Amino acid sequence: MATHPVALTVAGTDPSGGAGIPADLKTFAALGVYGFSVVSVVVAQNSSRVLSTAPMEPVMVARQIGALMMQLRPHAMKTGALGDAAIVAEVARAIEEFELPPPVVDPVIISSSGARLLDLQGEAAMRRRLLPLARVITPNLPEAQALSGIEIDGVEAMREAARLIHRMGPRAVVVKGGHLGKHRPAVDILYDGRSLVELAGDRIEGGGAHGTGCVFSAAIAAWLARGAELEQAVRRAKEFVARALRYAVRIGEGRLLLDQLRAARK
Ligand SMILES: Nc1ncnc2c1ncn2[C@@H]1O[C@H](COP(=O)(O)OP(=O)(O)OP(=O)(O)O)[C@@H](O)[C@H]1O
Ligand SMILES: [Mg+2]
Repeated sequence: MATHPVALTVAGTDPSGGAGIPADLKTFAALGVYGFSVVSVVVAQNSSRVLSTAPMEPVMVARQIGALMMQLRPHAMKTGALGDAAIVAEVARAIEEFELPPPVVDPVIISSSGARLLDLQGEAAMRRRLLPLARVITPNLPEAQALSGIEIDGVEAMREAARLIHRMGPRAVVVKGGHLGKHRPAVDILYDGRSLVELAGDRIEGGGAHGTGCVFSAAIAAWLARGAELEQAVRRAKEFVARALRYAVRIGEGRLLLDQLRAARK
């Protein structure tokens, strides 16, 4: 039987479709990967802000994963917003129990708008339980500051933060530079414990689109599902986000929304 690549996302909902599970599924589909999705937290949000969250019962998160595992083990996996410490622990337990692929962990601790999406207990559970299982973790600048404990004011500090976060157990770290500032290039730093790679990228105008981090981590998982090596997956994901930003659309009030399907067309 020919195997179609399959990726799993465990993440929050987004009624606007720009971030969370809808963004992940569109990204998987655009990159030719079949998507499984497990809801961790229902999020009342639009493209501008998060209004409120309702985390799932942890056992329901485990049951959703269990239902999928009765039929197929995905080829790659990502996590997004996880809601609270109990869900983080449950997801880590499921990864171990079902021997799921080491996940791409988008920590989703602090949103682009500055809102805290995971409390300190949840952040501690992520450090203790999820980071040691991760294939790669992809913090944005505020998250990299929270995890590393250092202030990040430029690329040199991003490199230092990547080294510090790598010591917490993930196999690799990408510190994302989307928040470096309007007039600086969107540089990301990839560190796998051996080599430190600087991924350069022009900053695309748009005043901060909604869901760039979700699309980025989902695209990494999609390329891993297709059999790419990590560095190649990260490079392609960065190019994909840039294309999706170029084709971003304005739908109603609020921030721009990425267009993954158009980004995938040649
Ligand atoms: N204006 C931009 N131009 C080009 N690339 C960008 C831009 N903004 C972000 N990126 C890229 O998008 C990816 C996601 O980075 P970003 O720092 O925006 O994540 P994030 O803050 O987690 O996003 P989110 O708002 O979805 O949580 C990175 O590869 C980053 O370099
Ligand atoms: Mg993010």
